[in-house]
Amino acid sequence: MLAGRGWWFVQEKVLLGLPMLGAAGAAAVLLAGPRLLAARRGRGDGRSAGAVVSMLTAGYAALAGLVVTFLVGYPLTLSTALITISLVCAGALLTARAVTAPGRNTADEDLAQAPKARRAISRRRLIAWTGGAFVVTATGAGSGLSFLPAAESVTLGGGRGRSSRAALSVADLRGARSPAPGGAVRRHVLTAKEATVRLPSGREIDAWTYNGEVPGPAITATQGDLIEVRLRNADISDGVTLHWHGYDVPCGEDGAPGVTQMTVRPGEDFVYRFRADQVGTYWYHTHHASHLGVHKGLYGTLVVGPRDARRADEHSAAEHLDLTLPVHTFNGTVTIAGRDGQTAHPTPPGTPTRLRLINTDSDPHRIVLAGTPFRVTAVDGRDLNQPGEVSNVGLHLPAGGRYDLVFLMPDTPVALVVDDDRDGGLRLRPHGDAPGDAHIEDTSNLPELDLLRYGAPAAVPFDIRDADRHFTMVLDRGVALVDGQPTYAHTVNGRGHPSIPDQLVVDGDLVRFTVVNRSLETHPWHLHGHPVLILSRDGTPSTGSPLWVDTFDVRPGETWEVAFRATNPGIWMNHCHNLPHAHQGMMLRLHYDGVTTPFAGAHGGSAGHAH
Ligand code: C2O
Ligand code: CU
Repeated sequence: MLAGRGWWFVQEKVLLGLPMLGAAGAAAVLLAGPRLLAARRGRGDGRSAGAVVSMLTAGYAALAGLVVTFLVGYPLTLSTALITISLVCAGALLTARAVTAPGRNTADEDLAQAPKARRAISRRRLIAWTGGAFVVTATGAGSGLSFLPAAESVTLGGGRGRSSRAALSVADLRGARSPAPGGAVRRHVLTAKEATVRLPSGREIDAWTYNGEVPGPAITATQGDLIEVRLRNADISDGVTLHWHGYDVPCGEDGAPGVTQMTVRPGEDFVYRFRADQVGTYWYHTHHASHLGVHKGLYGTLVVGPRDARRADEHSAAEHLDLTLPVHTFNGTVTIAGRDGQTAHPTPPGTPTRLRLINTDSDPHRIVLAGTPFRVTAVDGRDLNQPGEVSNVGLHLPAGGRYDLVFLMPDTPVALVVDDDRDGGLRLRPHGDAPGDAHIEDTSNLPELDLLRYGAPAAVPFDIRDADRHFTMVLDRGVALVDGQPTYAHTVNGRGHPSIPDQLVVDGDLVRFTVVNRSLETHPWHLHGHPVLILSRDGTPSTGSPLWVDTFDVRPGETWEVAFRATNPGIWMNHCHNLPHAHQGMMLRLHYDGVTTPFAGAHGGSAGHAH
């Protein structure tokens, strides 16, 4: 069944696991069978060494098959095969030695005088020696192969290889230094520091913060403005950076430590500057040790409004409700309050309302908006085409993802429920101070809205049949090197960061990704610097609005196809946004031909990569 859905699900089971089981079973039948029969007919000699050895060998082989499945997975290598086979042989030889060793089996000793028995013993010795020699050679060869450095440091996805084009350093790929005509400069200083922060619940936590606040300062701009942020590190000893999640900044502003800049150590600073060209809901976070830093509070929101709406907004701001709502879990408690810490908002009936949900956690959240029909007008900051009105649905919000929910406030209360917890979340109250929290029905069995079938189709800027490169990423768990250490890792094509080959692209390439999840956990896949267009999930094409995202959740057993045009030169992180997974290996780089980096360490790997 699984093979019918893709070879990547079953390769090692079919090529090694099943044959091993078959061989062991055959050996057991052929060796132990006749003895067993003879014994049943009363003609056995009472000795069952062969049966014992073969039965145990069958057990070792079966076990080996399971071990390969759980510790190695896809792809199967010659080294794995050699080591596995020789370990099973070693097990068989040692078992045979144990059951036939003189002294353990006195019958052998008694018979040792007879010439026939002597011949049998020397035949056994021959088997032991050849078997032993095989085991030693195969183990040696297998281990040797597994320690060979990766044959390639890049993968080409079917496109042409590296050219000798003039090198371009990421350090030179910096953002504009002035706003578009008529735009403003939005200046911020963000100081990363440890602080004790009071959560909306009243509880205090030891957090890592930007400017002593969690979330950090809300950065807002109007399209065409220049955003200029000076990041200072006061006392975060691990170091910090700022990554503009989903915002397609020039590569030198991307905040990937060891790749686009050095980590900002305590006492140091770094200035980010870029034009706010994209409208929508985004966020920023540290990209150094982000599995710790983001969790502890090093994140904030970034919202850019459209330029032509600037005047209209100024006139009607008072009549709008526009809430930016990062969802974050502290010590097991989900918080969804905006910066004012309010979880209840008086909202007069008829108020045009926009809720900007941002999942800043590493796990997905289920969002239900109860009490009003609404539209999901934007996903990951990008507007959908003709999003229809929905109600009584659950929304699956991937880690790192954003949804903009838009509706007119009704004259009854509205509740935003996260993870079906009806006591938490957010309340909008139509009549000022009236508590009026109407009873909320159980939301847990509401069906999930499928964004691949939501909204109306529209023209997309490319035809996927013209793809220049096609990269497949098979996500799994297994033993692999992560930062040079053998780890039970989250792997991509069997490898962990930084030993996963870079994906090479040329400026202008149309690139296709196939992402396959063989593991038991959800992987929110995230590419820096480019939104991707969802083509299909499990072979079923996306039929709703074109869906451009920067993070898509690949759930266990799923296969996603996405595509993008490579038009933002640089070296870009391409990783799972379950940040502990990324830290445990699930991270690689998309590398534009001709781009180099002077930086090393962290995401660059110890060897750096001055390709
Ligand atoms: Cu939101 Cu590479 O990160
Ligand atoms: Cu993951």
